Amino acid sequence: MVEMFDPLSAAFSDNPYAFYSELRAADFPIFFEAQNMWMLSRYEDVSKVATNTNMVRSLQGISSDVDLKQDQVAANWHDMPYHERVVQFSLLDSDGNVHRRLRKQVFGYFTGRAVASLEPMVRQYVETLLVDLKQRDSFDFIADFAAHIPGYVIGNLLGAPVEDCPQLRLWSEQVVQFFDVDRSDEKKAVAETATREFYHYLADLKRKRQGAPADDLISHMIMDETEGRYSEDEFISTCMLILMAGHGSTIDVLGSGMHTLIYEHDAQFKLREDLSLLPVAIQEMFRFEPPLPFFHRHALEDVHVHGQDFPKGTTFGLLYGAANRDPRQFSDADMFKFDRHPNRHLAFGQGAHLCLGNHLARLNMKVIFEILLTQFSDFELIDDHVPYKRGLSVRGPKVLSIRSVPV
Ligand code: HEM
Repeated sequence: MVEMFDPLSAAFSDNPYAFYSELRAADFPIFFEAQNMWMLSRYEDVSKVATNTNMVRSLQGISSDVDLKQDQVAANWHDMPYHERVVQFSLLDSDGNVHRRLRKQVFGYFTGRAVASLEPMVRQYVETLLVDLKQRDSFDFIADFAAHIPGYVIGNLLGAPVEDCPQLRLWSEQVVQFFDVDRSDEKKAVAETATREFYHYLADLKRKRQGAPADDLISHMIMDETEGRYSEDEFISTCMLILMAGHGSTIDVLGSGMHTLIYEHDAQFKLREDLSLLPVAIQEMFRFEPPLPFFHRHALEDVHVHGQDFPKGTTFGLLYGAANRDPRQFSDADMFKFDRHPNRHLAFGQGAHLCLGNHLARLNMKVIFEILLTQFSDFELIDDHVPYKRGLSVRGPKVLSIRSVPV
């Protein structure tokens, strides 16, 4: 099965965990030619690399500019001026001092305490969305419900006008289309156009906020830019990253969390009886079906991992999704245990690039499932086969048609 590791196949999207299990059992990591990297699947190895300060996201400092250009061409990741400036360069894809500076400037808006103040806004929006859906016999949990939420919440946090949130969502989806294994020319053109439009929108919004600051993230970032801590491109890149990183991931984990609760009926019942159990159950949703299961690192130094020596310059794939099911770390790792504790899952990564939005992601899940479990007494699948997205970088249902029973 390891030889047949094809993340774009239907077999993989139906059940990546069967493949992950084979990868973990192998004596050595496998080399994944399509991405020119060694895939790490065991919890210990993934955690070791994610927390190692000699493991970096950007190839700068390892490859020459000429090699970098050649790599970009090989990956069809070139001739995209806007994408190159503000997507291929970002807080996520920087390291060391640049990364620390960019992260520090927005960190204060993402602490547990800061995001707690967003709860009433999330609650009110979700309750409004459900008013119509409760009148319907059935709905698609993804398109009709989950897909509306993160664009609204993150748009609000940044300070975008409410009426622009659907467009922010569209751009985020178009730009990230290009991140998986399949970098076709069509996707490339869509991603570049969306990046250009998104860029000019944010530059314009920034100008408006300069004239009339508000209590939002963009106004706060403008102050930093004025003091010279940000360039215009860094400013725009960080806003885009926050939207892109938080949008699809939130939709996907809401979808897989709901899917899991539908077949884990006993857990659903217990959670409805005692909503204080939700935060622990939500951690298990993140462990069980992490929506962003794969990231990469480049080695700045020689390293020994999963029983083998690797030279400086090696690229590793960190399979957070596989690490989260490693039986060496989690008992009954393939079971959803809503009361699992402790639960040191890697859904948000670890180390310097630990998810900036992890408190917000958990807050969204808590508020949304609290409302769903309070307002509905049951959920049923309309079609037992739930199609999941293809690819290695994302995990979540494409469609989740459900029948729900309001209380
Ligand atoms: C919904 C579930 C989410 C999951 C599972 C998730 C997962 C992750 C992971 C695994 C990383 C680390 C990448 C690496 O190791 O290279 C990451 C980084 C990041 N995430 Fe999230 N994320 C989620 C939601 C969000 C939200 C809601 C936001 C913001 C609104 C966000 C913003 C970011 C940013 C800015 C980074 C880059 C951090 C850095 O490089 O220092 N994420 N996320």
